[in-house]
Amino acid sequence: MKGLVLSGGYGTRLRPLTYSQQKQLIPVANKPVLFYAIQDMIDAGIKEIYVIVGPNKEQVMETVRGAKWDAKIDFIYQDEPRGLAHTIRIAKEKLKGDSFAMYLGDNILRGGIVKAVREFEKSKCEASVMLCPVPNPHEFGIATLNRKGEIVKVVEKPKLPPTNLAVIGIYLFRPAIFKAVEEIKPSWRNQLEITDAIQWLIDKGYKVKSAKVDGWWKDTGKPDDILHANRLVLDEIEAPVSGVMGGSISGRVKIEEGAHVDESSTIRGPAVIGKGAKVSCSYIGPYTSIGNGCEITNTEISDSVVMDGAKLENAGKIVESLIGKGAKVSANNAHPHGHKMILGDNSEVKL
Ligand code: G1P
Repeated sequence: MKGLVLSGGYGTRLRPLTYSQQKQLIPVANKPVLFYAIQDMIDAGIKEIYVIVGPNKEQVMETVRGAKWDAKIDFIYQDEPRGLAHTIRIAKEKLKGDSFAMYLGDNILRGGIVKAVREFEKSKCEASVMLCPVPNPHEFGIATLNRKGEIVKVVEKPKLPPTNLAVIGIYLFRPAIFKAVEEIKPSWRNQLEITDAIQWLIDKGYKVKSAKVDGWWKDTGKPDDILHANRLVLDEIEAPVSGVMGGSISGRVKIEEGAHVDESSTIRGPAVIGKGAKVSCSYIGPYTSIGNGCEITNTEISDSVVMDGAKLENAGKIVESLIGKGAKVSANNAHPHGHKMILGDNSEVKL
């Protein structure tokens, strides 16, 4: 089985972060979201993986190539986000009629895909679609099952959802899907919808099975989702201390190489402090990821994601925040007093 991981799209709901950074590269517990998908594929025994890239393609390619993987990874360029089914059209040559797993690179799945892949390989089904019950079914592709657990209908973002079983963005296919994606027409949002391609398979009499998510699943499409995913991953993080830890520590705290926490700081886990980061006279509270090379001075922060190279100095108390790479937050000690800011387009601040 081969792998297709999607890392394109504009990520408009994550602006301003996505003006400069591809959304699948946003870190969760100091690891790009995309890396979780790639690792899940490798854990399932997939040795040949293609990553669909679009805007910021160099950034994605460089980041993926900068890590070590136990698989061959190559890239396929999608010029515009033309739909999930379109990525299968353009990947057809590379996937060469094999069965493959497709994984949306902004999804994180706790239980991985090993079980789903094994069950699919044993079955004679043409596709397997991972499903998870959601409270907001009108925002997803929604499946209806028969008594055998086979999917009999999928609809994209229905106004009146027939069930609460969301199609989560992880699919396993045998080669009939290559024909399906050629046959379907663009939807009202001018996209080749994967749900339409799956429905095409069902209408032609192919069996499409469902696979249940074990544990949790998170689609990191919005800022709150990133914070939520960060909490879920930190909850289970291993916590070796490789850097220098001078302060007081409680709970699971991972301190990466070259990081330095001084004796007047307190860290309450779960938390991660990235490579070369410096924490002085500060409090890092639960569910916080501090990126590589950050400097946190005289600041209290919890339940947040601080990306590489950001600096927080005398910044007061910060909660539930996403702070982009190289961003600076500090006290304004000069006159006139007041909040002073340089915010990028679509930034959001709550004072
Ligand atoms: C896509 C799929 C949808 C699926 C969702 C999962 O939606 O079209 O069927 O439920 O991913 O995240 P999109 O993110 O393109 O709105």
